[in-house]
Amino acid sequence: MPTPENVILRELLDSEPGWISGAKLASKLKLSRVAVWHHMEKLRAQGFDFEARPARGYRLTARPALLHAGLIELQLKVRPRGFSITVLDEIDSTNDEAARRLAAGQASPFAVLARRQTRGRGRFGRAWHSEPNGNLYASFAFRPAVPPERMQTFTLWMGVNVCELIANFTRLSPGLKWPNDIVFDGRKAGGMLTEARIDADRIRDLVFGLGLNVNGGSAGWPADLARRATALSALAGGPLDLNRLAAAIVGRVLLAYERFADGEHAESFADLWHRYDVLRGRRATVLEGSRPHAGTVVGIDGEGALLLRDDHGRTRRFRAGEVSLEKE
Ligand code: BTN
Repeated sequence: MPTPENVILRELLDSEPGWISGAKLASKLKLSRVAVWHHMEKLRAQGFDFEARPARGYRLTARPALLHAGLIELQLKVRPRGFSITVLDEIDSTNDEAARRLAAGQASPFAVLARRQTRGRGRFGRAWHSEPNGNLYASFAFRPAVPPERMQTFTLWMGVNVCELIANFTRLSPGLKWPNDIVFDGRKAGGMLTEARIDADRIRDLVFGLGLNVNGGSAGWPADLARRATALSALAGGPLDLNRLAAAIVGRVLLAYERFADGEHAESFADLWHRYDVLRGRRATVLEGSRPHAGTVVGIDGEGALLLRDDHGRTRRFRAGEVSLEKE
């Protein structure tokens, strides 16, 4: 059952950039115009604003800058049966929250987004800086019920899909740095963390986490992060509509998951990988634990492992590791 606020929002969004009359809203909601006005005040408290004119009605003039569940839901173009989105004000980690909800039996797929994380995590247990500054912290929960080896290229596939969505949405040029970094000219704007629980030979459930610096600039970042990282708003020259972008990303992630689960992704994976991979042909060092290996990246294999040719012509494969590029 949609809430009165969501009904009002849908009508306002559908009427944009025009007006919707108070009488029409009241009859849609079967409420008095005073009651409608009260619901609009609730929306105002959530960061929306309206212009009201006696003869014309209402028009949306401002939207919340931070994540808003209703706005995301209303702008979703894809919605598998039973799919749900939760937007939390604050959580330790959306990946952890999604895992807890899976363990508690919540129906999948679902997404958990948060305006702020107090213990956002990256690969190798590193912290993911997660202030409430207009960035995206999102986790998606699935129960794929396939053998673990089917999922080897999952994060790479999701990564190139997210890159393409960002490219289409912003007209910027993102790249994917194996295995999980979304980068722009060597600066990281996003990262992905896939975590699975595996029973004997099947994946029981899986959480795909995405952190993306959207509107949160370097102001609150520690110095070393500010040197290495960037945000979409800095590259685009101004803030982006976070909720519209979040809805587009949710839709793309759901679609990408379905194509992956149905095994329909191989051809477009090769194509997207070719378009967004930033490592191929580059001189790089791969840190495997604390051991550095230098060479030239020649690509990935069918299992998503990185292939690095050393100066003796030997090719080594890496299932995991940290890649740093030599300056060109
Ligand atoms: C990395 O680059 O090392 C991966 C970063 C992944 C961060 C995201 S933010 C949403 C989700 N929740 C987490 O705690 N981590 C992921």
